[in-house]
Amino acid sequence: MLANKDLLGIKELSFEEINLILDTAAGFKDILGRDIKKVPALRGKTTINLFYEPSTRTRTSFELAAKRLSTDVINFSVPTSSVVKGESLIDTVLTVQALGADFIIIRHSSAGVPHMLSRHLSASVINAGDGTNEHPTQALLDAFTIREKKGKIEGLSIAIVGDIIHSRVAKSNIYCLTALGANVRLIGPPTLIPRDTKSLGVSIFHNMEDGLKDADVLIMLRIQTERQGKGFFPSTEEYAKNWGLTPGRISYARGDAIVLHPGPMNRGIEIESEIADGPKSVILEQVTNGIAVRMAVMYLLSGVKR
Ligand code: CP
Repeated sequence: MLANKDLLGIKELSFEEINLILDTAAGFKDILGRDIKKVPALRGKTTINLFYEPSTRTRTSFELAAKRLSTDVINFSVPTSSVVKGESLIDTVLTVQALGADFIIIRHSSAGVPHMLSRHLSASVINAGDGTNEHPTQALLDAFTIREKKGKIEGLSIAIVGDIIHSRVAKSNIYCLTALGANVRLIGPPTLIPRDTKSLGVSIFHNMEDGLKDADVLIMLRIQTERQGKGFFPSTEEYAKNWGLTPGRISYARGDAIVLHPGPMNRGIEIESEIADGPKSVILEQVTNGIAVRMAVMYLLSGVKR
């Protein structure tokens, strides 16, 4: 079982806990392949999805994971709630807990919000993305997908490409994949890779051809225009020309390399459609695997003594 009642970030997980989540997810993936996809494991529990930022994949995937485990699920609608009348975040979550929530899945634009809430709540808090800090279930589903496709993670060369500085997915992936023994490379312009990242045990490349050479796995990141000021790169056309994944560039990676993207994609900017829809892409498999991984997280958190 896991040590803490909350999943706040990969940083807080041990090597054993990461592997336990991945192994448990494999069991749930088998169940999701059956005709009857639902198990009674968490019957009687209540899940509240509390998303202060937009989401397609994560919110839907948590909702399905919670339903497959037989919990009741409420999708809290922030724009039509008393948040618009000025109700504070802490009053909102205490209210939601008083309504009987056992799991509170939170996405927020401010880094550290899940950590703050965890100190006030007896319910399990699951971080679904906090600002530019972490997105732990995305990294876990990425690791699950890589392990499923490659049979291992230890020793693989995994390139994370693009807007590292604004990416909570990149941070969680760096923590997760280095913990599991991968050789992680970050590729992008100097303006989009924080200078202190090297201390996390990764290699840094400012040239696609060098960074992609013989890579086993490519994780392409979305250019996050909504989090950026101006001046990180001259234009999206310039970015695509230098850092976009094209059929020509992917030829520098190993012949059996796979391509991941957390979504949503900017087609024609960080990734060409020919790659996104091509045989090396596992992007939709990532989405499918997200349900099993989130089921595993919720199931394991439910067993933590509090
Ligand atoms: N990967 C991811 O977080 O996607 P959504 O923003 O659609 O949830």
